Amino acid sequence: MSKERLQFATKLGVLATTVGSAVGLGNIWRFPYEAGESGGGAFMVVYLLMIFLLGIPVICAEFVMGRSSQRNIFGAFRHFSPKGKWHLIGYVGILSSILILSFYSVVAGWTMEYIYQSITGGLNFFTETFDGPGSLEPNGMYIAYHGAEEHFREFSTGSWRPLMWTILFLFCNFLILRRGVRKGVEKMSNIMMPILFLLLIVFCVNSLMMDKASEGLSFLFNPDFSKLTPNVVIEAMGQAFFSLSIGLGTMMTYASYFSKETNLMQNASATALLDTLVAVLAGIIIFPAVFSYGMSPEQGPQLVFVMLPEIFNEMPGTAIWSTLFFLLLFLASLTSTISMSEVLIAYLTDEKKMSRGKATWLNTGIAIVLGSFCALSFGCMNDVKIFGMTIFELFESVTSNILLPIGGMVISIYVGWFLDKKILRDELANGKRRVLTAIIRFLLRYVAPAAILIIFLSQIKVI
Ligand code: TRP
Repeated sequence: MSKERLQFATKLGVLATTVGSAVGLGNIWRFPYEAGESGGGAFMVVYLLMIFLLGIPVICAEFVMGRSSQRNIFGAFRHFSPKGKWHLIGYVGILSSILILSFYSVVAGWTMEYIYQSITGGLNFFTETFDGPGSLEPNGMYIAYHGAEEHFREFSTGSWRPLMWTILFLFCNFLILRRGVRKGVEKMSNIMMPILFLLLIVFCVNSLMMDKASEGLSFLFNPDFSKLTPNVVIEAMGQAFFSLSIGLGTMMTYASYFSKETNLMQNASATALLDTLVAVLAGIIIFPAVFSYGMSPEQGPQLVFVMLPEIFNEMPGTAIWSTLFFLLLFLASLTSTISMSEVLIAYLTDEKKMSRGKATWLNTGIAIVLGSFCALSFGCMNDVKIFGMTIFELFESVTSNILLPIGGMVISIYVGWFLDKKILRDELANGKRRVLTAIIRFLLRYVAPAAILIIFLSQIKVI
């Protein structure tokens, strides 16, 4: 490359940016609902195994390929094997990035609605007595509880508001992308991540003081292995890939902006640990509340958007907590969508020599079209089903459970079997840490590809 590639400014900035990509709705929205649907503890155990056995090695592999080639996913594969067909996996990466961006923006749009509602007092739930329909009380008045569940249902099925927020969110994403990688992303992640973290700790303490906190904790941490089905395993694997932002070249593209001084192994492990910590904290916030308020852990995608407002409603200073929290969740989503958008944008600018402006427009345009279908699939398009799933559900499950693991498998096979061992060793820990490098290589060569294959096969047998 003739032009010096733009690089991240500081060491902390590098970590904050990769953590910024990894931490997002995946941890705070998707993890609790997946764990809730898949039996809690059993899911958690498999999830942790996936993070260590597949997640960390695959982040390392993406980092190594990205930094040593200084290219996007296509360019990187072509750089190492100019004659091979490996780069074709880049198309799968691009497809997944755009599908994820589409449904992710819908949920990020929900957070925007909830910021708005928090400020305008729409999230204050109360028991209302009035003389209309409802259940008749002995004193002759009618009583109705406007709870978070009903509130969410009304909003999400209402079509136009979710649609508007989805588009607005993609527009925010567009604005930040236009300012380039360094300025936009790095500054924001540096400030926001620590605040989000502190806020999560406060909410954890609050949840741990609830009546049935121990029931919630035991649901999350006490595995009931009778609930362990092939389906739970594939969901846990998909969640690990999704949460760590791996399998489609996001981390590879980010690593192409790293400087030679960045310690890749350290960065990969720190990212995985912090990401997992945030997910576990989210679980500790949600499940004690689920049991204390007598609700079901199996509510699906609405879980967090129902439970959190209920929790905030009980806390003094409801509006302040909920505004702050949803604002941070919105920002955390932005740092994640920026990272997935970079996959297509880096491809178009590096490989197709398109201007950054045009590439950003194209990325946003496609996501607006597909994202609109996803937004409407809770409302007026709820009946449109493909393989028994709504468009939102289809995008969500195909990407995390199939496309990301396929991408992860190809990347691990390539780095484990075909990439020069010396490149892996030099890049991963500057030639030091031989034992750890050997372990990572072993996991990439044997464990990751075999595990992913077996999990896929077990799924086919079930069908
Ligand atoms: N990991 C992010 C989250 O947990 C989402 C994300 C960003 C992502 N980039 C990605 C997921 C690339 C898969 C692939 O919210």
